[in-house]
Amino acid sequence: MDHFLYKTGVLHAEDVAIPEIAAAVGTPFYVYSAATLTRHFRLFDEALAGTDHLVCFAIKSNSNLAVLKLLGDLGAGMDVVSGGEYRRAKAAGVPGERIVFSGVGKTPEEIRLALTGGIRQFNVESEPELRVISAIATELGLRAPIALRVNPDVDAKTHEKIATGKSENKFGIPIAKARAVYAEAAALPGIDVVGVDVHIGSQLTDLAPFEAAFRKVRELTLTLRADGHDIRRLDLGGGLGIPYTRSNLAPPLPVEYGAMIKDVLGDLGCEIEIEPGRLISGNAGLMVSSVIYLKEGEGRNFLILDAAMNDLVRPSMYGAHHDIIPVIEPEPGTAPAPIDIVGPVCETGDTFAKARDLTPVGPGDLVAFRSAGAYGAVMASEYNSRPLIPEVLVQGDHFAVIRQRPSFKEMLGRDSIPEWL
Ligand code: LLP
Repeated sequence: MDHFLYKTGVLHAEDVAIPEIAAAVGTPFYVYSAATLTRHFRLFDEALAGTDHLVCFAIKSNSNLAVLKLLGDLGAGMDVVSGGEYRRAKAAGVPGERIVFSGVGKTPEEIRLALTGGIRQFNVESEPELRVISAIATELGLRAPIALRVNPDVDAKTHEKIATGKSENKFGIPIAKARAVYAEAAALPGIDVVGVDVHIGSQLTDLAPFEAAFRKVRELTLTLRADGHDIRRLDLGGGLGIPYTRSNLAPPLPVEYGAMIKDVLGDLGCEIEIEPGRLISGNAGLMVSSVIYLKEGEGRNFLILDAAMNDLVRPSMYGAHHDIIPVIEPEPGTAPAPIDIVGPVCETGDTFAKARDLTPVGPGDLVAFRSAGAYGAVMASEYNSRPLIPEVLVQGDHFAVIRQRPSFKEMLGRDSIPEWL
């Protein structure tokens, strides 16, 4: 459920009409609903009620400071994967003890930043990384709380580019090796072993792979405890999928996911951490674009928008589907017709949808891409020298620009021409 509905024939974000925002900021832009973000965070928080837990929002899905502040104020922790994301979490007011640091290639600078600024735990992905954390923590006279990210060799049954839990993927420490690496961790100076971490992939639409991975984590936890490690925290990663179309089979709900977690791991007495990104932010955002041209081709027609693959890369990168709807509600009975929906970037990959059924729209009309709040703005680039598009947050009947559209002057001003040219 989200808060993007037609009201008196016009698409609204909560109580704000989309054309009102378009008039204020121009197109294209991203718009997020505070009520939807809040609702989605609470669904996870409530799903784990009764167990000691922390819902750590995966910043990579949407890293706008206003979004992080909103979630942080609700009590969310944050899952970060870079020094930049760590800085964002802190700038949004989230304390270090609610920030977990994931990622396969943390640099010494990033480790130092998190250790000095405060960190709940590092999710460690290799022995070399473990040793670097130990060395830096020792040098700083600190103890680094760590969990090892184990790779459970489970098929997440999702898009190959976002599956992470198979042994051929670059992520984590093979679960069969975990005991030995935990033994090394416990013996290293400056390291405090606190838990086990796992993340098997993103946009999972079935609980079975999660459950298979969590059962392996359970077994490992029992083994590690028998080895003398005080495993008191389990980080179960993110990955619960969202419905990208209105018609497809709905993925499991957070409450079902939470019930399964409690069922599989509840008796271990561990604190549970989860790292959802997409389910919190995905359906809390739209990308709004204007039609530039309607072009009649041979045997097919093209709707050319002012948004492009650089603004929302998911369709060209993963072949992902986003529902695209007109901002002015079509009259009942208006027949949709198939059309290719494309952006102005100079490559064929800049195609949002092929032969998509859409009711007629023409130049100047607004369309909205649904489910664009996750992995939308954060993956945008300036390809074709198109400035990053603004982000807007709506709450009730008011809205604010939470990221300005940069001017061309700012964009060009980042380059410099050496004096010897
Ligand atoms: N935790 C870790 C360690 C992760 O790597 C990820 C996502 C998450 C949590 C959050 O997963 P989520 O709940 O959002 O599924 N750009 C791709 C998605 C990449 C996901 C990468 N890792 C897309 O647009 O589909």
